[in-house]
Amino acid sequence: MSYLPEKKHILASGIFNQTLRDWQGLNCALTAKNFMYPIFIIDNENEIQPIKSMPGVCRYGINKLKSHLEPLVKNGLSSILIFGVSEKLPKDELGTHADSNENPVILALPKLKKWFPNLMIACDLCLCPYTSHGHCGILNKDGTINNAKSLKRLAQIALSYAKAGADIIAPSDMMDGRIGAIKQILIDNDFGNKVAVLSYAAKFASSFYGPFRDAAKSAPTFGDRKCYQLPPNSSGLALRATKRDVEEGADMIMVKPGLPYLDIVQTTRAHFPEYPLFIYQVSGEYAMIYYAAQAGVIDLKVVLLEVLTSMRRAGADVIITYFTPQLLDWLANKSKI
Ligand code: PBG
Ligand code: ZN
Repeated sequence: MSYLPEKKHILASGIFNQTLRDWQGLNCALTAKNFMYPIFIIDNENEIQPIKSMPGVCRYGINKLKSHLEPLVKNGLSSILIFGVSEKLPKDELGTHADSNENPVILALPKLKKWFPNLMIACDLCLCPYTSHGHCGILNKDGTINNAKSLKRLAQIALSYAKAGADIIAPSDMMDGRIGAIKQILIDNDFGNKVAVLSYAAKFASSFYGPFRDAAKSAPTFGDRKCYQLPPNSSGLALRATKRDVEEGADMIMVKPGLPYLDIVQTTRAHFPEYPLFIYQVSGEYAMIYYAAQAGVIDLKVVLLEVLTSMRRAGADVIITYFTPQLLDWLANKSKI
């Protein structure tokens, strides 16, 4: 006699066509609203610079951004995350040019707002692209972080970005107390209900940022970031960091990097069901998928969609990914996604 599974143990009856399969996890759907597109803006206004370590990703001068973004907005792009990269402005200990009048982000914001009034513009807020030492805060003479000075400077820069038109401030520096300091200065200057704060809450000291540091010219000139970014083994500290940022007033929270930290995403989602949760598929993750596909060992589209689905399944609402243009194109062309 052959073995017959019990009625409720027959799973194949629930997945024999695509709609039935979709119903098994509709909360993992991938739509345009689930993606935020990171963009590097340079101060050579008319240039487009391919980034060697991230094939397919470029840095854009402001005069090249409109035509790059127009088709994406048409395809449903609803938010971007901008990074300034300067080739002309001198770096110093205080990161003076993070918010000077010549800063590429400060210059780009009013134009982007005018061209794309409905596009949500988040500004990465950090000192590392603008400091001579390449660290994310202001340093003491002995090379340690000066927390008070760092908070003051970061808050100032946040205010400058808000004044220039930023919708969202996204501090990636990981200095203790920055969310509170940024919220306070925004409220004091009447931006309390006009600018949101997206905290890089659980940001780990990761080697997956390598290609980005090349793209943003933001590698530290000495040491590493282990004294302010989270140790990769620290799930408890990650939760404390997120709790702290939420208490200080973060509107939205993030886990970064993405794929190697899905357990953190799941725990964060469970502890903070009330907050929009972002996940950053960082530069090294982009490069891994890109190069594996290029080598012919995986299929880019199928693997990418599987990875992004895993991020949604773990509990992320919005995925920050360099693949956004490609994804929007697939979605717009109604090819199966
Ligand atoms: C700046 C910053 C980094 C990333 C985003 N903002 C690099 C770092 O912390 O060293 C990484 C993004 C990526 O790798 O795609 N603090
Ligand atoms: Zn930094």
